[in-house]
Amino acid sequence: MSDIMKLPVGIDDFKIIRRENLFYADKTELLHQLAGNDITPFFLSRPRRFGKSLMLNALKAILRGQRELFKGLWIDSRPDMTGRPGRSFI
Ligand SMILES: Nc1ncnc2c1ncn2[C@@H]1O[C@H](COP(=O)(O)OP(=O)(O)OP(=O)(O)O)[C@@H](O)[C@H]1O
Ligand SMILES: [Mg+2]
Repeated sequence: MSDIMKLPVGIDDFKIIRRENLFYADKTELLHQLAGNDITPFFLSRPRRFGKSLMLNALKAILRGQRELFKGLWIDSRPDMTGRPGRSFI
């Protein structure tokens, strides 16, 4: 029972999800592509409760280089979290 993870119901704060070891479907490979993309503005159009806020919070943590929040996730194997350090408008 103890290795069953809790779902982050209603939580869009990436830091809380990771610090409290809640379930997170790893989207960091896609976020890495997005963070390294030259096309900066993008329009995020998804219905309610589709994970928009959590995605942006995870992207913000990547751009801030908060590596401690990404242990065990795809992006933690990358020496460069963004490919473009210091370039963030979040
Ligand atoms: N990658 C993920 N892994 C696990 N849970 C997720 C993931 N992405 C989103 N969720 C969960 O789905 C729910 C909705 O996420 P979020 O609040 O980010 O959506 P939203 O699109 O911003 O919603 P709203 O339109 O209401 O603002 C939350 O409980 C969140 O924890
Ligand atoms: Mg939201």
